[in-house]
Amino acid sequence: MKIRRILARLAASCGLLLPPEGHVSKRQLLRLFWLARKSSGPFLEVGPWVGRSTSAIAWPLRNRRNPSKFITIEKGFASLEDWENFWGISVYAKPPKLAERYTRHILRPGGSIASLSENLVDRGLGELVTIFVGDLLNFCSTEQFRFIYCDAAHDLTEIKRNLPSLIPLIDRQNCIFVCDDIKNPAMCEAVLALLQPDAHRLYGDFFVARFGAAVDA
Ligand SMILES: C[S@@+](CC[C@H](N)C(=O)[O-])C[C@H]1O[C@@H](n2cnc3c(N)ncnc32)[C@H](O)[C@@H]1O
Repeated sequence: MKIRRILARLAASCGLLLPPEGHVSKRQLLRLFWLARKSSGPFLEVGPWVGRSTSAIAWPLRNRRNPSKFITIEKGFASLEDWENFWGISVYAKPPKLAERYTRHILRPGGSIASLSENLVDRGLGELVTIFVGDLLNFCSTEQFRFIYCDAAHDLTEIKRNLPSLIPLIDRQNCIFVCDDIKNPAMCEAVLALLQPDAHRLYGDFFVARFGAAVDA
């Protein structure tokens, strides 16, 4: 077993947070942790990649007697063709270091979903999180969620493509809805126009919207 996996398992058993690698800062991880801690769930995430943000959301659920459902939706990539078909460009069009960070998961057996699953299991979170493998646009649910984290809204194109599918999944009586990478006023306006929350706030480029009872949470 690799040293990183051993350390992760050790940290999990000590109750420490040793997050998987990924794209959200430590500060954002803490914010996700505290926001998720306030919510009773059910929880929904779009875009876990290999589970960094997922682990921060799942962490506070570990000690709950009856933790509510947590579904994470990830397209997942297990070949260079998969990647190129979804994003329309080669992963090698990225700067070399970034491309290497992606390909080490894409090209391993089982692809990036295997890394996601492994990272959650190593942290004792595997039982808490259900992984939906596929495009958000193919996710169907009649359930509404009280915590939604969307890390698939990085520009206006992604906002318009992905957010409409999440609107019917919001529990408007009580929901915290978080988006990462809302980088400018035009993006913020576009998200607000689609979601129409009761309150919202930006923490850097971390957008937090609240609905119903969650406004006071
Ligand atoms: C910036 S990464 C997420 C980083 C991750 N949240 C972390 O903590 O490191 C965005 C992820 O969203 C996924 N994604 C983007 N659009 C998607 C869609 N429509 N359906 C499912 N997954 C999607 C990508 O495959 C990618 O793994």
